Amino acid sequence: MFPVGLGCMGLSWAYRDPTIDETAGIELIQKALDLGVDHFDTADVYGPFANEALVGRALAGRRDQVVIATKVGLVVEDIATYRYGRNGRPEYVRASCDASLRRLGVDQIDLYYLHRIDPQTPVEETWSAMAKLVQEGKVRSLGISEPSVAELERASAIHPVAAVQSELSLWTRDHLAEVVPWCARHGAAFVAFSPLGRGYLTGAIPADARFGPEDFRAKLPRFRPDAVAANQAIVDKVRSVAARREVTAAQIALAWVLSRGEHVLVIPGTQRRRYLEQNVAAAAIALTPSELAELDALPAPVGGRY
Ligand SMILES: NC(=O)c1ccc[n+]([C@@H]2O[C@H](COP(=O)([O-])OP(=O)(O)OC[C@H]3O[C@@H](n4cnc5c(N)ncnc54)[C@H](OP(=O)(O)O)[C@@H]3O)[C@@H](O)[C@H]2O)c1
Repeated sequence: MFPVGLGCMGLSWAYRDPTIDETAGIELIQKALDLGVDHFDTADVYGPFANEALVGRALAGRRDQVVIATKVGLVVEDIATYRYGRNGRPEYVRASCDASLRRLGVDQIDLYYLHRIDPQTPVEETWSAMAKLVQEGKVRSLGISEPSVAELERASAIHPVAAVQSELSLWTRDHLAEVVPWCARHGAAFVAFSPLGRGYLTGAIPADARFGPEDFRAKLPRFRPDAVAANQAIVDKVRSVAARREVTAAQIALAWVLSRGEHVLVIPGTQRRRYLEQNVAAAAIALTPSELAELDALPAPVGGRY
């Protein structure tokens, strides 16, 4: 797979720009295909449901050229406040898979993730139900989002874990110690979500930025006004490395994540063609040892992830 995929969430959810309509979203996804992107990430919960339908429409007719990844297990409880619940019960997973196939307009999902492990359902039960979907041909391979190594061991004892999708970026390094190496040892891809720090690491979010309640970031500690201001020192460093290379901060942020291993992929999200082009071009940037040392030494951010 090309190391830079496209995270499609923002086209329908979380940070959606209402001035970008569905036609423009479809064009963006198709432009990504033309640029060589072959991995598109969505989830039933994005929209909810609208994002899978958008991705399905955009990829219709070119389905054979791509990996379509979607997810099950998070349930929106309140749209206005982005409140989610979890559901990993086997019957729910089966019904959700059928619904995702319909919305995507495909016969098979290439990569089906458990979006979050449901604390009320042992991971073995959910994962067995997902493995059955593989046996039935509805799904080609399975992944999990945000698991611990202990959970990966439990799941992989039942069916191989083809991919782990968890947050990894210059300001979120939690998974480097255990999960990223586990993936390398087990032949699984590590798919880094929010590799641009939900936009922050690109430098496009000013120190005085304020997010309205319709923007998911308003809920996140790192996007509170004090944290946005305090973390500018991180962005300044990324920008200075970028300026010396004559590339953008976003490209440096993506190149750093990709430098964490051959099996590490990124799925930056964007609604804009010029960002998409930059992000795709980041695949060709190899950071030097001194650039890596500078970026590795960045301070930890102010504010938790969620
Ligand atoms: N498994 C999970 O739990 C989970 C959680 C979060 C996300 N995801 C997946 O991961 C994907 C990516 O994560 P994300 O969208 O949260 O965060 P991200 O990729 O780190 O950042 C997206 C933000 O960065 C901006 N951006 C993108 N490219 C840029 C560039 N070159 N220059 C300046 N700004 C740029 C986007 O702006 P515009 O939107 O204005 O273009 C958007 O605001 C999602 O689409 C989704 O598929 C999964």
